[in-house]
Amino acid sequence: MSLQTRFMLHVIVLLTVLVLLIFFVIELRERDAIFEEQKSKGVLIAKNIAQLNLQPLIQWDEEGIQRNIEEQVNGEVVYVIFYNRFNNLFVATPFIRDYEENYRYGRLGEDADRETFLFEKKDLLDRDTGQILRVLEIEVPIFAGDSPSRWGSIMIGLSLEEMRAEIRQTRFWLVVIHGIGLLVGIGGAILLARRIANPLKRLAEGTEKISKGDFYHKIPITSQDEIGNLAQSFNEMSHQLLLTRERMEEAHRKLIQAEKLASIGRLAAGIAHEIRNPLTSVKLNIQKLLQSNRLDKIEEEHLGLSQKGITQMEKFVKELLSFTRDSELNLEQFSIEQIVDEAVKMMADSLELKKVTLEKNIEEGLPQVLVDGDKLRQVFLNILRNAYEAVEEGGKINLSLSYFQEDSIGKIRILISDNGSGIPAHDREVIFELFYTTKSSGIGLGLANARKIIEEHKGSIKVRDKEGEGTSFEIIIPSEEEK
Ligand SMILES: Nc1ncnc2c1ncn2[C@@H]1O[C@H](COP(=O)(O)OP(=O)(O)OP(=O)(O)O)[C@@H](O)[C@H]1O
Ligand SMILES: [Mg+2]
Repeated sequence: MSLQTRFMLHVIVLLTVLVLLIFFVIELRERDAIFEEQKSKGVLIAKNIAQLNLQPLIQWDEEGIQRNIEEQVNGEVVYVIFYNRFNNLFVATPFIRDYEENYRYGRLGEDADRETFLFEKKDLLDRDTGQILRVLEIEVPIFAGDSPSRWGSIMIGLSLEEMRAEIRQTRFWLVVIHGIGLLVGIGGAILLARRIANPLKRLAEGTEKISKGDFYHKIPITSQDEIGNLAQSFNEMSHQLLLTRERMEEAHRKLIQAEKLASIGRLAAGIAHEIRNPLTSVKLNIQKLLQSNRLDKIEEEHLGLSQKGITQMEKFVKELLSFTRDSELNLEQFSIEQIVDEAVKMMADSLELKKVTLEKNIEEGLPQVLVDGDKLRQVFLNILRNAYEAVEEGGKINLSLSYFQEDSIGKIRILISDNGSGIPAHDREVIFELFYTTKSSGIGLGLANARKIIEEHKGSIKVRDKEGEGTSFEIIIPSEEEK
């Protein structure tokens, strides 16, 4: 059974018991009140009839009384009996004739005073209709004027039908009111159960999602109470989990990278060691041959090509060695603008040849930074060269430098954008991997090297989403004060 149903059931049972209890208490009290009212009313009627017959009573005018009382019985007053001071039946309405045996004597005692009344509930058979009549019998003493001695007494039978009808009506309204109360209460209980259970349900769903690894799931906070606080703590927890997972993934990536680098480093050192000497002797011998002037044109061309190949091999070995060597950063105060300018200068001839325009956008008053100038220049050069390689003839490269603060730490942002071939979204992470290249003559070292150097500077490098064609690289380096 769900929490919501259980809660609802409990509240409904409780409510029903409560409503029934209240109903019975009110019903009992109402019945008592109506009965008391009926009693007072009966006493009044009896006294009234006695008063009306006082004169004929004093004169012992039996017939006059008989006439009077026969007129006074109606639906409500079923019968009237007069007893004399000896408690003997004096005059009675015809109804009593059938029960004369029972009503021969009055029941008031010798000492009965003006405030003594006798009550009794009776069930009598109405011989005319054959129905049982419920009556309240009231006996009241009769005093003539201020005389202290009692003349006799009067007994009337008051029909309880009216009272019962009144009780029935009261009960009907009580049922209606309590029924409505119960319905409203149940409706309220259902609403309340939903209000409490729904956020809990969402929490439960959220936990399930998190347990399946969806740390992006957020639970909407719909109230400011304990449940709202729980949802908030829950969201904070999933956020922390997300951050932890990201940090772990990053650490994992770095670990793999480090392992890769270590094995490549060993391999590279081995290759360099094995290849370097034979390569140098091959290069020297080719140079000697070319200088000897003993070769014809075609032989010279072939050897020239071999020499180029060997130069390329030398470059590869050198870059590999530079990448794997764990050299310390050589930190000095530099203006980033100056380093960027040097890299641009080194590219100037190539850019001119391909008619590529380079636009610079440099914020004024950039602070100096404590960096390894040579390594950073290498980074900018690698990215500029990639941009240059990606654009068509007459393409555009955009370079911008700006300062900003994040978590009260000053940082410098370097943006290098081009309008070249662009990088598909799913390749944006792999391009930084070692040996990832899409170029026939590429090695796939440029960006891997760039990232390694930037991370050594506690900065970051990534490809930004770029509207339209082309690519945009963003490098962020903390400025020197905070390092
Ligand atoms: N500006 C750019 N526009 C389009 N693609 C790019 C750009 N920069 C990098 N790339 C992609 O990223 C890949 C990896 O670049 P990276 O510089 O690491 O290696 P490479 O340029 O191929 O070789 P090299 O080691 O000679 O630099 C490239 O092969 C290319 O596919
Ligand atoms: Mg490159």
